[in-house]
Amino acid sequence: MATKPTRRMALTTFVIPAGHHKDSWRKEGSRIEEVPGLEYVAELTLMAEAAKIDAVFFGDIANANPTLRGDIKTNGYFEPISTLSALAARTTSIGLIGTMSTSFESPYTVARQIAGLDHMSGGRAGWNLVTSFDGFQNYGFESIPEPAERYRRATEFAEVVRQLWDSWGDDAVIADRENGNFIDPSKVRKINFQGEYFSVEGPMPGPRSPQGQPVIVQAGSSGPGLELGSSVADAIYTAQPDKGRAIEFYAELKRMLVGKGRNPEHTKVLPGILPIIGETLKEAEELAAELGSYVNLEHGRQQVSAGLAGVDLSSLDYDEVIPVEWLSEDPALGSRYQVFRRRVVDQKMTLRDLIVDMARSAGHQWIIGTPQTIADSMIEWFEAGACDGFNLNSPYNPGGMKQMCELLVPELQNRGYARTEYEGTTLRDHLGLPRPTA
Ligand SMILES: Cc1cc2nc3c(=O)[nH]c(=O)nc-3n(C[C@H](O)[C@H](O)[C@H](O)COP(=O)(O)O)c2cc1C
Repeated sequence: MATKPTRRMALTTFVIPAGHHKDSWRKEGSRIEEVPGLEYVAELTLMAEAAKIDAVFFGDIANANPTLRGDIKTNGYFEPISTLSALAARTTSIGLIGTMSTSFESPYTVARQIAGLDHMSGGRAGWNLVTSFDGFQNYGFESIPEPAERYRRATEFAEVVRQLWDSWGDDAVIADRENGNFIDPSKVRKINFQGEYFSVEGPMPGPRSPQGQPVIVQAGSSGPGLELGSSVADAIYTAQPDKGRAIEFYAELKRMLVGKGRNPEHTKVLPGILPIIGETLKEAEELAAELGSYVNLEHGRQQVSAGLAGVDLSSLDYDEVIPVEWLSEDPALGSRYQVFRRRVVDQKMTLRDLIVDMARSAGHQWIIGTPQTIADSMIEWFEAGACDGFNLNSPYNPGGMKQMCELLVPELQNRGYARTEYEGTTLRDHLGLPRPTA
């Protein structure tokens, strides 16, 4: 008999109501006409809550560029804070993680909005910190700052947000009716932050939120991304299609955490996984083929080009492999570029295969199988030290979300790797993270 696991996986789900697999909205029953309305996304979120998943996660592509290239799976249709605020009112337990960009926003606004979501949800808020790679023209930039520059700003940004979250002590509110004092002024502090990018006086306009510091997720895996993540993140989202590399990435991050005096168990590494599920392997393969058949190859050519730093692919036949010399080796192009570059250089994928691969999972791991075989593989990654859990990407909706929540997660529950009831009330509770005091 298999021994009982000693730890559980952290599980979140990256909600894209149009489906993660590109063009899966064409599948019958997709309910694409209801995007971006509340009822549909609330139904998807409630499925995840019924499966006792830690959190729903909303990315944010704050520009129309993917849609104009024919990619309508983009997650920019659901502005995260408005969506999650509505979902806070429709749910009771599940965590609510939303993306806000450190390149586009002001730290004072982000601190307020995420803390506001934490108040409104009773301590279920998380902020996915991204530096963004597109859409800068919408925010007054003429060109995209270099990654190193974006991460420098992001590092300062996160520092300001955290200082603001701590600017009210947990015991600052005394609500002393008799003497008419609502707060103890000695427990509310200005932060007087002066940095290279930001000058923020503080304090926050209102009390500390239930989690004290809402959960910070960092989605970026390059050198500077890891540097920032290991300094401030409670969880890391990362695209890791290869188990060996995922183990190296995991070990490196945990080493960095220890080096910075942080508890390595308090930063969860959550690679994305896109499961294509069938009751039998044959059924799953048929579903994968069906989803693949929806992919528009001409749009795919443009999307591959965009994923590979704009390389001109117009002259390439679908059955050709992109010549290696067309692809830059510049490490500044970021971790996802490197994932796609390896597909060409190491795996010699043809343009057609690359289009389908990218359509499936945008560089994340995808897996075709039964709930049992997919759970086997997830457990293998988890036990091998490749991750602390996963960010589940539903390939098509609502059917794929239903399969994940009603077939795959229960399989993990049966084997003791996923919870069957929420034990705590906050997202920090779900992830097993302590609450920082101020
Ligand atoms: C699961 C996941 C979700 C992401 N979501 C967003 C997003 O919503 N908006 C965004 O601008 N970038 C998003 N990113 C991209 C990262 O912020 C980052 O730009 C990208 O991973 C490249 O940075 P890196 O080279 O440091 O890894 C996401 C990345 C991952 C792994």
